[in-house]
Amino acid sequence: MVKVESEKGGDMGELKGKRAIVTGGASGIGRAIVERFVRAGAQVVIADCDVPRGEALAAGLGEAARFFAVDVSRREEVEALVAFAVDTFGGLEIMVNNAGIVEPLAKTCWPTISPTSRG
Ligand SMILES: NC(=O)c1ccc[n+]([C@@H]2O[C@H](COP(=O)([O-])OP(=O)(O)OC[C@H]3O[C@@H](n4cnc5c(N)ncnc54)[C@H](O)[C@@H]3O)[C@@H](O)[C@H]2O)c1
Repeated sequence: MVKVESEKGGDMGELKGKRAIVTGGASGIGRAIVERFVRAGAQVVIADCDVPRGEALAAGLGEAARFFAVDVSRREEVEALVAFAVDTFGGLEIMVNNAGIVEPLAKTCWPTISPTSRG
């Protein structure tokens, strides 16, 4: 179990060197998790169906973060995501299953991923 302490409560040192996937990591709560993990020394795959936001976030975080375009409702895409994380960082310790929707379905980006926008 990885201990995650609050912004004020600790240095989150146990995350240093850990390799993580954060689904829904391109915005909102997931983005905050991604940024906090990277600050704590983790390597993170930002897994999201919002390609522009995910790519922009990864570009701003440097080598510790990579983007992978995925629809987490599709099993084969999640399997490809895990393989990408293991191939990219050499392993995987943490999976943050955050992706989801709060807004109506019409506002999601499910159909927008193309094969060329992965990884
Ligand atoms: N914000 C709240 O008040 C609240 C309350 C209860 C639960 N939640 C849950 O917390 C999680 C994050 O919420 P948030 O407010 O940060 O939402 P958000 O809309 O800001 O971010 C969600 C992210 O998930 C991504 N996403 C959505 N469907 C996806 C899919 N099928 N595959 C891959 N990526 C997908 C979106 O592109 C987006 O980047 C969600 O699961 C949400 O249901 C949020």
